[in-house]
Order: sequence, then structure tokens, then C-alpha cells
Amino acid sequence: MPETFEPRNIIVTGGCGFIGSNFVHHVVREHPEVHVTVLDKLTYAGNPENIAGLPEDRVELVVGDICDAELLDRIVPGHDAIVHYAAESHNDNSIADPEPFVQTNVVGTFRLLEACRKHDVRYHHVSTDEVYGDLALDDPARFTEETPYKPSSPYSSSKASSDMLVRAWTRTYGIRSTISNCSNNYGPYQHIEKFIPRQITNIIDGIRPKLYGDGKNVRDWIHTEDHSSAVWTILTKGRIGETYLIGADGEKDNITVLRAILKAMGRPEDDFDWVRDRPGHDRRYAIDSTKLRTELGWQPQHTDFESGLESTIAWYREHEAWWRPAKAATEAKYAKQGQ
Ligand code: NAD
Ligand code: DAU
Repeated sequence: MPETFEPRNIIVTGGCGFIGSNFVHHVVREHPEVHVTVLDKLTYAGNPENIAGLPEDRVELVVGDICDAELLDRIVPGHDAIVHYAAESHNDNSIADPEPFVQTNVVGTFRLLEACRKHDVRYHHVSTDEVYGDLALDDPARFTEETPYKPSSPYSSSKASSDMLVRAWTRTYGIRSTISNCSNNYGPYQHIEKFIPRQITNIIDGIRPKLYGDGKNVRDWIHTEDHSSAVWTILTKGRIGETYLIGADGEKDNITVLRAILKAMGRPEDDFDWVRDRPGHDRRYAIDSTKLRTELGWQPQHTDFESGLESTIAWYREHEAWWRPAKAATEAKYAKQGQ
């Protein structure tokens, strides 16, 4: 086991988004010695409400762009680590308009790496299993740290590009970095453009859920709280220069997930619409997280998907004021795309 890194003052980029804000809550709850500076541009996907109510002496919000080198020069010194979540994160948006994905995910990562190089700050890069492309439904294989990169969408190729920059900056300039590639997250604060919250909020609104293609695409679901504990473990115990895959053995096809949502919300299991498939739609993702579990001793805690789904549904029922402002525009965008 490598020496434990004990950060006291970290920057969390994208800390007002879904997974970043869950990580900020996790750190505040579990690691009282750590101060968090959230750096977030507050795009359509960022909401300061996600971290509202956290103690002001523990969490500070800086509204700004990760591509802004001068801003980074001002705020990075004095911190001992950057945990990088900020991104354009939605595949469908990347197909409709790829440019912000290249800007934020590639150029933004480049700027952060340069800031880490200049100010000698440790860096954890939050990435996705989508960099590995997809697997066939009948393939017994799962992704490992050795799987070759083969991204399919503008989103996943921008994330793959950013991973490559991290590797190069680590090898060439000696940046102290780690990378994690995680599977599909679910839980509170997820934007309603994404599959699970879109269908939950559709049902609340009396709109039929929308299933792409044949509904057989498989995603490997992990509760966002388990993602947070894994990232903390890698940041503090991971070996510099290493990649760790994060997953909780949660493979399910989309129609199974949708039927579970319909059932939990008291609707008939065929009460949904089939809609136009996503172009280039990845068939299956599956993570082998053996390295993280055996080398760093991490284990997921929230592996009962039905109960995680029920608490997620309850969260969206109780937080209508949080998602309501985005609902009409999100559905209008999908309607235009035939989805
Ligand atoms: P999200 O879209 O919910 O949040 C992204 C956040 O980044 C928002 O708060 C947004 O305002 C901020 N942001 C965007 N551009 C910015 C910029 N230029 N400067 C500063 N802030 C900016 O995303 P998410 O689903 O929480 O994903 C977070 C990270 O986790 C991403 O890097 C994503 O690739 C990765 N990831 C996501 C999943 C998943 O299932 N959602 C799985 C694995 C990895
Ligand atoms: O695998 C990790 C990735 O998971 C992350 O890197 C991405 O940031 C995150 O958005 C997610 O990507 P997906 O494309 O897998 O997630 P999404 O929620 O968009 O879709 C999940 C599946 O559901 C996918 O097969 C497409 C399908 N889908 C999606 C929507 C929005 C539908 O069938 N209907 C829908 O309305």
C-alpha cells in the first residue's frame, strides 16, 4: 500500500454539478479536516443549490471557467490537490453540438494540468468508462485498466483526449496525478436530461417515459455515493500515475431499469414510448474494478439497486422546486431530436 496522502485544502471543479456536488457533501461529512474550494462555471448543468447549506467555513464557491488560466493562477496556490469533475457530460448534447465538449473537456483539462505543473499541486482526474467504447451483449469481457481506448461519441472522445493529456503531463512533466474511469452514476442532484431522472420526472408529470432503440443497451449502474468514496480512496491512497476503474457490478439493460422505475412509481410496465435511437449508441458498458478493490481495499456500499432507485425517486418527488425550472426546456430539446 502506497503512503497515504492527507489533503487539507482541495479544489473540486464542477462541484455544483451532479457527481461533483455529491463528492463535496461526502468530503464535508466524512473528512472534517478538509476545506473545499468549488470551482464551477454554473452552466445549465451547474446549480449552487446543490451545495447550499454546507458550512461556509468548509466550502467556498468560486464561479469561473476552468479554461481561464489567469483565474487558475489566482486560486490554485495554497491548495494541495485538484479533483477535476467539471465537464460537458451529456452524450446527446455532444452529438447536437460538440464544440463546448472540446473546449471544456480538452482545453479545460489542459489548463488545469498547466496550473498543477506551475504550482506543484496534486491532481485527480475524474473520467468515464466510455473511453473504452462498447462491448457486445454476449461478450463475457468487462473493461479493465488494460482495455484499449476506442471512444464512440464526441463526449467520450473528448474525455479520452483529456485522459491522454493527463498521462502525457504525468510522464513528461512529473505531474502527481491519478485517473479514475467510472461507470453510470445515479442518485440525487442528477440533471433531468439523463436517463433515470428524465423518466422519473416524466412520470411525475404524466408524460410517458422514452426508451431509445430496442432498449437492450446495457449500463453498469453505481450509486454516486460509492463513486465519491472511490474517488476519495484513490486521491488519498492511489499510486501516482495510475488509473483505477470504478464500478459496482451493476449491469442492467435500459428496459429493465425503466420497468423498475415504472413499477416503483405504480405505473404499468409497458407505459412508455419507443423513440429514435441515439446515433452511434454504445451497446454495453461493464467494469471490472478488481484493481481498486484489491490494491486500495475499496468496496461499494450501496449495491441494492431497487432500494437506491426508490430513494432516488423519493428525492425527485421531494425536490420538484429543484428540477422544475429545467423540465420544459429539456423536453422541448428532446422533442426536436425525435427523442
Ligand atoms: P454534470 O453535467 O452534472 O456537471 C458538470 C459540472 O461542471 C456543472 O456544475 C457545470 O456547471 C460544470 N462545468 C461545465 N463546464 C465548466 C467549465 N468550463 N468550467 C467550470 N465548470 C464547468 O456532470 P456529472 O454527471 O456530474 O459528471 C461529472 C464528471 O464525472 C464529468 O467529468 C464526467 O465525465 C464524469 N463521469 C460522469 C459519469 C455519470 O454517470 N454522470 C460517470 C463517470 C464519469
Ligand atoms: O458510462 C458513464 C457515462 O454515463 C458518463 O460518462 C456520462 O457523463 C453519463 O451521462 C452517462 O452516459 P450515458 O449516455 O450512458 O447516460 P444517459 O443517462 O444519457 O443514458 C443512459 C442510457 O439510457 C443510454 O443507453 C441511453 C438511454 N436513454 C437515455 C435517455 C436520456 C434512453 O433510452 N432514453 C432517454 O430518454
